[in-house]
Amino acid sequence: MEKPQAILFDAYGTLFDVYSVGLLAEQLFPGQGNALGLLWRDKQIEYSRLVTTSNDGAHYRPFWDLTRSALVYAVKKLVAPAGSVDMADFDARIDRLMNQYRSLSAFPENREVLQDLRARGIVTGILSNGDPAMLNLAVRSAGLAELLDHVISVDPVRKYKTAPEAYALGEQATGLRARQIGFVSCNAWDALAATWYGYQTLWVNRYQVPFEELGTQPTYSGSSLRDVHQFF
Ligand code: LAC
Repeated sequence: MEKPQAILFDAYGTLFDVYSVGLLAEQLFPGQGNALGLLWRDKQIEYSRLVTTSNDGAHYRPFWDLTRSALVYAVKKLVAPAGSVDMADFDARIDRLMNQYRSLSAFPENREVLQDLRARGIVTGILSNGDPAMLNLAVRSAGLAELLDHVISVDPVRKYKTAPEAYALGEQATGLRARQIGFVSCNAWDALAATWYGYQTLWVNRYQVPFEELGTQPTYSGSSLRDVHQFF
């Protein structure tokens, strides 16, 4: 297989640690931080699929808004059933967690991996469900801006991954065909759909979970972003 000329990374969960909000979540909602982080993420992805697959996208909202709605849902479900908690500062606590989401911790190996790719003359980028404002802020606060040739948001097509129109943006931005591009994601569903689309994929299994059971495997599997060098 031809070595890819560009490597595109998923953002949330792959470059940025979506569970780094757990500590603050635990402070704000004692005993529920971990569960809140997990449900928040699951609901965010569920909402992205809901608005993409219903009524021709009529209910599309930017990822930042979906992320906030998912957080409100998760808090209501886990922390405030039947008004069991003093919710006087509900909005303030939601705001604090959303602020933290704005500048999520970046995984420590990102920098070195991106630097090495650039040194090898490989085009680098992000292809993410995040809207442009949140992506640019996350990239800048992680100090990665100068290491990325492209920061591609699905927002212009108003369809979230796993819609083919979303993955097609990677080809349009780089001027390459999917098979000439490596796509890296820690999210199994994303690695699967990108494989179906035609990218060479690397699934980075950070959390030692099984891959999706839908009959297709990613092109490559690894356990750290550093595995990019081994395969691409
Ligand atoms: C992203 C999320 C969905 O596209 O991980 O960045």
